[in-house]
Amino acid sequence: MKTVLKRSLAILALASAMAAAIPAYATDFRLGTIVPAGHLWSQGAEAMGKKIAERSGGEHSVTVYPAGQLGDESQMVQQLQSGALDMAFLTIADVSNRVPEFSALYAPFLVDSAAEGASVLRSEPAQELLDLLPQQMGVVGVGYGIAAMRLIMVTQPVEEVGDLSGKKMRITPFKPLRDFYNLLGIAPTPMPLPDVYDALANGQVDAIDIDPELILNFKFYERAQHLLVTNHTMFPMVGLISGRVWAGLSDEDKELLRTAMEEALDEILNKYGSAEKGWMEEIRATGIEVRDFGADKFSGIVEQWEEMWVEQKPLIDRLREEAAAH
Ligand code: BEZ
Repeated sequence: MKTVLKRSLAILALASAMAAAIPAYATDFRLGTIVPAGHLWSQGAEAMGKKIAERSGGEHSVTVYPAGQLGDESQMVQQLQSGALDMAFLTIADVSNRVPEFSALYAPFLVDSAAEGASVLRSEPAQELLDLLPQQMGVVGVGYGIAAMRLIMVTQPVEEVGDLSGKKMRITPFKPLRDFYNLLGIAPTPMPLPDVYDALANGQVDAIDIDPELILNFKFYERAQHLLVTNHTMFPMVGLISGRVWAGLSDEDKELLRTAMEEALDEILNKYGSAEKGWMEEIRATGIEVRDFGADKFSGIVEQWEEMWVEQKPLIDRLREEAAAH
């Protein structure tokens, strides 16, 4: 069955299951995200809100709550499930903890850049994963966005991967990344984004798993002066609508929200494709050490990680085929 049709049926099933218990939906939709206000995701959410307001003749609006104001991603997922939150732009970190198939998108060295990541996220195997969300999480997955590729930032100089051993490495809390660092003999410290600057400042961590946009947004270069350009994994985002809220919408409003969110996510995918280079130049201009530290430094890690995620291996292979085709 075609992906789009399957998704529509899954959403329809969720809608009918929940229709009886649904309160009237909000006309001012609330959208939560963990990233700060200036981040591209927040800008995309604001632009989407404007379109929704214009296209509904002012009947609907969207208020964006950035910087984890509504809680961390796990709490936002719970709010989406209860209907307390209408929409969210979330990393797939917490989603992959709940629906393990999404972990395949974090396979190490699957793609080289956010541009390649965007192509993989638009491909059929990635799109099919969205069909799992209504049933397994009670949310509607409208589509993917992306963040920049992941890098490692350290307070002390590093020559080889072995030098990272024993470091306290901040990670976003999710299993595929934890496994990556455990395989390297590095003890990961799960920590949501808003806590990272202080943790670097007070020595709670001495290395962070991060991306170039956030290094600039949060000025992490003030606290750690050695950047390893690893590009070890992409960092997908997903645009979600609460299943309970969705079930209470008219067909017209569903179409309005879905179309505006799809457009916003598509624009985000395009923007990251071209933004990474400029951010890296800005980081170099701060004067910190920036060292190429690519896949050749991580010998054997792909095979070992895939062995740990053997249940997802057929999906990982399909995603690697998509990546190779772009
Ligand atoms: C992070 O936890 O590092 C993160 C959160 C949101 C967007 C990108 C990265």
